[in-house]
Amino acid sequence: MYLPKHARVVTIGDGDLSFSRALLAHIPAEQLLATTYDDEHVLRDKYAINALDDLKKAGVATLHGIDITSGNSLAELQAFEADIVIFNHPLVPTQKSYSQYQKERDKSANLMNRNLLYHFLKHSFETILSISGLRLCYITTKSVKPYSHWHIETSLCHQQPFRYLGQEPFEVSLFKNYLVRNVDRDKCVKHEASDIYVYSDQADHSIQPRLTKFKYTADNHCPLCRKGPFENESDWALHCNTRIHKAQQQYSDAWFRHLSSL
Ligand SMILES: C[S@@+](CC[C@H](N)C(=O)[O-])C[C@H]1O[C@@H](n2cnc3c(N)ncnc32)[C@H](O)[C@@H]1O
Repeated sequence: MYLPKHARVVTIGDGDLSFSRALLAHIPAEQLLATTYDDEHVLRDKYAINALDDLKKAGVATLHGIDITSGNSLAELQAFEADIVIFNHPLVPTQKSYSQYQKERDKSANLMNRNLLYHFLKHSFETILSISGLRLCYITTKSVKPYSHWHIETSLCHQQPFRYLGQEPFEVSLFKNYLVRNVDRDKCVKHEASDIYVYSDQADHSIQPRLTKFKYTADNHCPLCRKGPFENESDWALHCNTRIHKAQQQYSDAWFRHLSSL
């Protein structure tokens, strides 16, 4: 993870705050603002072991009840003037009502998670990141389904000034005692291969050489299924007719319908 020593970092939705605590090996406490979606009492109740007191002792600023899909709670984050905003293993809580997405009931989890990440990027670039800073957002997630069905390389920046720049592997060994926590209860999620997906509104960003670019937007490839190159039109037609492609196309269509309704 690209974390220059001078960088001011905000973490979003950091369940038990153990990732934020591990960041202190890389940046000084005063350059970190750690946030959770849960209120403080929910956090302490949900995760018997958490890093909140360690962060407070270290002098790290913490904010709770930060819902990144809502612009209302972001004023204090704006004042921090961040260089980098990080959301690791984002996931919408399952108990949250899916009612506003009922028309797309079977696809509601896919749609809600895309909605979460779209607003994470939009609010970060519009409000949280300093105008004169590094202007970087990181989403760390696994590259397997259902996460790969969110199409986060291609679907989150539609008609926005920010772009997906590329990805690099997440090196968990660099983040001591970091536990990925279940969104709803006091359980840990197994550490598995994950990638950091990097976004910026600076096209020629100096982070670029570290990153692997997304190759499936080239001609003869399918960015939704991450497949290709296809040799000819008939291979492409065969691919479009597969059950897997049709399912990905439906996710994508539902998302762009949702985006146009925002
Ligand atoms: C699978 S947990 C990962 C927790 C933590 N980031 C980690 O890496 O261990 C998903 C996290 O997303 C957060 N989250 C879900 N919806 C959110 C929202 N609207 N705003 C901010 N965080 C949210 C949850 O509170 C939860 O902590």
